[in-house]
Amino acid sequence: MTGNERVKIAVFISGRGSNMLSIAKSCMSGILANCAEICTVFSDNPASPGIQKASELGLRSFCIPSARLSRVEFETKLIADLETYKPDYIVLAGFRRILTKVFISAYKNRIINIHPADSKAFQGLNGYKWAFENKLPKTFITVHFVDEGVDTGEVLAKQCVDLTGADTLDEVEKRGLAAEHELYPKVLAEFFSRKGNSSSTGKSGV
Ligand code: GRF
Repeated sequence: MTGNERVKIAVFISGRGSNMLSIAKSCMSGILANCAEICTVFSDNPASPGIQKASELGLRSFCIPSARLSRVEFETKLIADLETYKPDYIVLAGFRRILTKVFISAYKNRIINIHPADSKAFQGLNGYKWAFENKLPKTFITVHFVDEGVDTGEVLAKQCVDLTGADTLDEVEKRGLAAEHELYPKVLAEFFSRKGNSSSTGKSGV
């Protein structure tokens, strides 16, 4: 990669796709416009509303329904299908499958995720429910690299979300998602800009 090239990212989703939308808009005319472009949106769920949103934005997308495939079969097919798009980085945005070492080794140090909690304090699904049920006065959002554990990879950035007065789960999620939509493009832009300047797609120099 040279200093002028934009990083090609494949965004993986499973459902709503609001983070994918915020990243896509940032690539089109926002903070990511000079450093990244979405080469494809992938979903393991053909019914995910995010896939429809991606096509409305004119983005290329594809699905591999996972129901009848083993994890190895699924990831092997995914790696092969991604060859068409040749992404530099994989950006997980509400992708609900846990990736195994088959996929992770193919994109070693090139997979990034957003987690709706402090990944050191809470791992797995339903981070906002966890914060709400524990009546936390504040929670965190984490952007991190993906390794073979669940939400255990190296942290790129963490942001606090004030939950004062948030007395429903909906309100907790609303505040959290608003922060996610701002944080994720910003952290990706900072990281990819550094990568562009260091002419490497690997993680060294993070
Ligand atoms: C977000 O809360 C994200 O942090 C988590 O899954 C949710 C996805 O939401 N990993 P959306 O599909 O981007 O709207």
